[in-house]
Amino acid sequence: MRNIVLTGFMGTGKTTVGRLLAAATGRAFVDTDELIVQRTGKEIARIFDDEGPDYFRQRERELAADLAPLQDLVIATGGRLMLDPENAAALGADSLVLCLQAKPQEILDRLALDGTRRPLLEGPEPARRVAQLLEERAQGYAKFPQVPAGAGKTPAQIAAGIVDQFDVPGLSAAHQSPCCLTVTHPEGSYDVHVGDTLLQHLRQLAPDAEGAVAIISDSHVSPLFAQRLQDVSCLAVFEAGEQRKTLETVRGLYEQLLDAGLDRTSTIVALGGGVVGDVGGFVAATYMRGVRLVQCPTSLLAMVDASVGGKTGVDLPQGKNLVGAFKQPAAVLADVGVLRTLPPAEFAAGMAEVTKHALIAGGDLLYLLENRDWRQERLFQPSNNDLQTLIVEAIKVKQDVVQNDPYETGRRAILNLGHTFAHAIERASEYSVSHGYAVAMGLVAAAHLSADLGYADKVLRQRVEQLLQRFHLPTRIPRHLAPHDLLAAMGSDKKKAHGRLHFVLIRDAGDVFMSAEVPAAAIQKTLEAMRA
Ligand SMILES: NC(=O)c1ccc[n+]([C@@H]2O[C@H](COP(=O)([O-])OP(=O)(O)OC[C@H]3O[C@@H](n4cnc5c(N)ncnc54)[C@H](O)[C@@H]3O)[C@@H](O)[C@H]2O)c1
Ligand SMILES: [Zn+2]
Repeated sequence: MRNIVLTGFMGTGKTTVGRLLAAATGRAFVDTDELIVQRTGKEIARIFDDEGPDYFRQRERELAADLAPLQDLVIATGGRLMLDPENAAALGADSLVLCLQAKPQEILDRLALDGTRRPLLEGPEPARRVAQLLEERAQGYAKFPQVPAGAGKTPAQIAAGIVDQFDVPGLSAAHQSPCCLTVTHPEGSYDVHVGDTLLQHLRQLAPDAEGAVAIISDSHVSPLFAQRLQDVSCLAVFEAGEQRKTLETVRGLYEQLLDAGLDRTSTIVALGGGVVGDVGGFVAATYMRGVRLVQCPTSLLAMVDASVGGKTGVDLPQGKNLVGAFKQPAAVLADVGVLRTLPPAEFAAGMAEVTKHALIAGGDLLYLLENRDWRQERLFQPSNNDLQTLIVEAIKVKQDVVQNDPYETGRRAILNLGHTFAHAIERASEYSVSHGYAVAMGLVAAAHLSADLGYADKVLRQRVEQLLQRFHLPTRIPRHLAPHDLLAAMGSDKKKAHGRLHFVLIRDAGDVFMSAEVPAAAIQKTLEAMRA
């Protein structure tokens, strides 16, 4: 069984079930709609509006051909993709193709909940439209084994049912030996383990966790991976998203830990992306004046950045990361295998931070980035070890910087390359531009400003842009974000020292430095040049 392909009408849960199925079977997950959105930079509804359905079908055909030679994937397909005989032949060969099935009313209820615009259902009577489309497609869908996916069954039950009924083999064994880096800090040291399928070995890899273990996770990650951690006394989950990185969430978590009877000898395992790492770390720093913390980062960004270095904290309405503590973990488990289910936009966001590390360090990491194929679905093909190597090299950059400046009193600030711009873009866009995407724009802006001030060659900026474009990251600031608004947003960035704007600038890859005060006019000029 090469791949597992899920087809079926919109709203039958292909994406949610597919991600769970991928996590349960150790396959990489891809969703054809998510990939098309990422590669075109437009939401599906916008593609239909601007380019029309034929253009969209053509993108689907290209994608089907692109994915066809790959293996070990779970592929959730757009509702019509597998009804095209050419696509079905490309993706169906040697693969298990299943059709998820639900009643029209269940479909309508789910679509209403998720709120995404669906061009095919637009019009006065969406219910009739669903019934009509279902009828049109009935024959096409009937060619595949049917999986009832209606109400009354949770996505996790549906995924488990598929594994049982179709005898899908379980988690594949790790094909690469794990790697371990030791990070030292003023109070001691901790190991960062990087490898495939590490989560199952928490107790061995994070020794001394003798007391009770509590997992802190979010609503996306917990159903995918929490069950891999054994002997857990408490699973405390909060809703995914930066908006939940608050003191209210922290308070709710304290209460769950108290209810579960966790005392000072307990260990908190933060299982999730950077939000979970920051919140879970802050809880571990403060619960009963501090308990042991193990970081299990599950996003690329959290693996290469947030989980290492000991910074934890939450946001306030006034700004991001305004309350926090340094809390060194007892161990970090970067299980590269969990990235199989990471949404493509989150993968790209992580690549923006990896690019930042590569520009700071130059050398091997930059070479790797520029010379390998970083399409997410290809990275999990058997015997492809590039991703683990990349993550190890990227962590080494952070390790080197934080070891030399554990409390960010000096040189550690270079990790903010591109970030003064990025934070301003996030704030001025009211956080509609995600951090990783803002960092991508910020890196280009930093290279531009460095060239403009005479430190760097213009070629560097082009090199940065070309690299980011490979990950489908933006390299221009959206037009509606006016330079003077961005400049104002920078003025309120907590990272400015004594009211003056300093930037991390770059002479060349591997040569970054903290600037003296930069005149506002130069910043303004960069912002103008960066407008899309
Ligand atoms: N402490 C530090 O040094 C540091 C450094 C950098 C960033 N940060 C913080 O990290 C946060 C950003 O981290 P992030 O980008 O990981 O955001 P995130 O934690 O919100 O994760 C992104 C999304 O991916 C989901 N997800 C995570 N792992 C997944 C997986 N394996 N499969 C499927 N879905 C998965 C999450 O549920 C979430 O929806 C910010 O709050 C930032 O301030 C902290
Ligand atoms: Zn960042």
